[in-house]
Amino acid sequence: TLSLQIHFSPLTHIPTPWLFPRQSMQLLWLSLLPCLYLASLCSAEQGLEFPSFDGKDRVLHINERNYKKALKRFDMLCLLYHEPQPAHKGRQKQLQMTELVLELTAQVLEDKDIGFGMVDSQKDAKVAKKLGLEEEGSLYIFKDDRVIEFDGEFSADTLVEFLLDVLEDPVELISNPMELRAFERMEEDIRLIGYFKGEDSYYKAFQEASERFQPYIKFFATFDKATAKHLSLKMNEVNFYEPFMEEPAILPGRQLSEMEIVEFVHQHKRATLRKLRAEDMFETWEDNLDGIHIVAFAEEEDPDGYEFLEILKDVARDNTNNPELSIVWIDPDDFPLLTTYWEKTFKVNLFKPQIGVVNVTDADSVWLDMSNDEDLPTAEELEDWIEDVLSGKVNTEDDDDVKDDYDGVDREDGHHGDDHEDHGDYDDHDDSD
Ligand SMILES: *[C@@H]1O[C@H](CO)[C@@H](O)[C@H](O)[C@H]1NC(C)=O
Repeated sequence: TLSLQIHFSPLTHIPTPWLFPRQSMQLLWLSLLPCLYLASLCSAEQGLEFPSFDGKDRVLHINERNYKKALKRFDMLCLLYHEPQPAHKGRQKQLQMTELVLELTAQVLEDKDIGFGMVDSQKDAKVAKKLGLEEEGSLYIFKDDRVIEFDGEFSADTLVEFLLDVLEDPVELISNPMELRAFERMEEDIRLIGYFKGEDSYYKAFQEASERFQPYIKFFATFDKATAKHLSLKMNEVNFYEPFMEEPAILPGRQLSEMEIVEFVHQHKRATLRKLRAEDMFETWEDNLDGIHIVAFAEEEDPDGYEFLEILKDVARDNTNNPELSIVWIDPDDFPLLTTYWEKTFKVNLFKPQIGVVNVTDADSVWLDMSNDEDLPTAEELEDWIEDVLSGKVNTEDDDDVKDDYDGVDREDGHHGDDHEDHGDYDDHDDSD
């Protein structure tokens, strides 16, 4: 059957784009589909049935003749802009499988009036130009008169979640203490909140602005005096909460225009500490700091990881006004398929917290050595190290010629990315749980 073919063929054809093997993630994800499919066949009980592709084509092939009609017909149209049909057999399969992810997404969201289509960057170049499609491999979502680009992990579950978010109202209203508590707990997300008189007020500009960032940046509003008082919000004021920060940036209350709010968001949206998320991981990665990323790996559910994250948050809070600094936090639990790949590429052990610098051009990396200490670094030590990274004292290049002679890190045994054998204490852990 189709699903078995998918399961066995692709893994041998993974090309090696070194950073995020976007294609291979699709492959790997797809390779899980048949497992789910089999699981559903084996189960005699009802209530947990994973969808399997029913074979019905729902994804349109968009061309000059049908694109206008497609745009009119659906509330929302999602177009995958893809490379031309490749000659290489493995790549052809990948494309088929990408399409299959889209088919499954279309099937799951069948009742939602969302259209799906594929646009070939060569054959349909004219349409692509008309529609403003530029980045191969991206999914473009046309909703009302807006275009939203999806630049995240191309798996059916990430896509479905994303599209459901896009279908919701871009502004969520907060009107009681329970909703307020939920709002206050969302520390990982970029959030804006405004206090307005009611629907017919300056709220309108806020709502218009929110549409431009949906669903990546969350917009909340309240018309409720007590809620506003709790958040120290004045009438018509908009507050911007950076992830993990306690104090918001404030856009003072007056007649704000849509553009003023948009401008304010752009000014603040690169967070000092940001969590890598499946739905916009490629976009985050593209937004690097002059060719590098400071990357912290920490599992939030692991005691060490949790502690490290708390230290990292302190450092981020102390340095939130430094526009040069942005740390990408990756919780390996969120990306199980990438964990071994990252361990190999960066030569680090991801069972433990790690922080390092990654050059996004060649994936060369340097990691703060934490292996000889019982304790995690203190906030001060971490800050010193980050300062050294930003000043260029710690960098990925110095060790390139003189191997094993690196001392850019204050601690002993400065660890760097070229130690092929140095896998430290991998054996501390097994997968027996
Ligand atoms: C990243 O690596 C490339 C290729 O090796 C190199 O040319 C570039 O200077 C490096 N960038 C930084 C910021 O170290």
